[in-house]
Amino acid sequence: MSESASPLVVICRRLMPAGTILLREAGVRLRQGGLDVDAAELQALVFGAEAIIADPTVPVDAALLDAAGPGLRVVANFAVGYDNVDLKASRDRGVAVTNTPDVLTNATAELALELTLAAARRTTEAEAALRDGHWRGWDPGAMLGLELSGACIGIIGLGRIGTRYAELVRPLAAEIVYTARSAKPGAEVRLGARRVPLEELLESSDVVSLHAPASADTEHLIARAELDRMRDHAVLVNTARGSLVDTTALINALAAGKIGAAGLDVYEQEPDVPHGLLHAPRCVLRPHIGSATHTARDAMAALAARNALVALTGEEPPNRVA
Ligand code: GLV
Repeated sequence: MSESASPLVVICRRLMPAGTILLREAGVRLRQGGLDVDAAELQALVFGAEAIIADPTVPVDAALLDAAGPGLRVVANFAVGYDNVDLKASRDRGVAVTNTPDVLTNATAELALELTLAAARRTTEAEAALRDGHWRGWDPGAMLGLELSGACIGIIGLGRIGTRYAELVRPLAAEIVYTARSAKPGAEVRLGARRVPLEELLESSDVVSLHAPASADTEHLIARAELDRMRDHAVLVNTARGSLVDTTALINALAAGKIGAAGLDVYEQEPDVPHGLLHAPRCVLRPHIGSATHTARDAMAALAARNALVALTGEEPPNRVA
């Protein structure tokens, strides 16, 4: 890119060097907000941007798009999910939107497996008791949990991450059932996965793991009625988006022993985690670290940068979602 072209790329919060290096090499002007940037600062920051690099914490709405001005060509989201971006407002303004699929699939599926095991075996609760000095030695009846060997694993959303999770749990599980908008014949043959209605999945699974995107259709997909259908020892795992689960219903279900345990990486109002959840029994919590590996975050940063740079040349960016 020549100096005279030199478009302005705004990184709303933070991008890993793997991405900023590509942007610098391309000769774009860079402006960066930082982790604590607030909405008003962001509006000023994006003024004159031709590309915005956002992340799941940055609401990219009509106001932000308008604050950037008519020169804005692309919003490159540093995430696979893009529920933080108003797609209609972007389309209406002729702004392309991109995401970073594939490169975080392994990391996120591995964290879902970690949460599955931690919740099933109550490992964080057991460790907290030990650290607090409550451990009195080996107890045949203490900290009993769920064994995954022989379990039925229910996967809601058999996309890239759901499929990788299925591959990881397959050697442990007896059976994999799933829901998805369309049948996945490959996974059915390779993993023996069986597509079932949601009600059947909830009633038959020992573990229910969520891998569907956030949308109006999936908001509170798991609410009181769904939790009531689950087995009383079943583990609910959410590494997708907080909006998929009705938090109040989950807190009540855990308190009443309607489900066995929960493992969560995402919340409805991040970074706020409701008091009831912090103190819920048999509940393992992680601070939205699904894709937090060096490999995934570097690759995501590079992909977000590449999407922005390609869009700035007027070509079709590789991961356009709108
Ligand atoms: C992270 O949450 C992502 O959507 O990539």
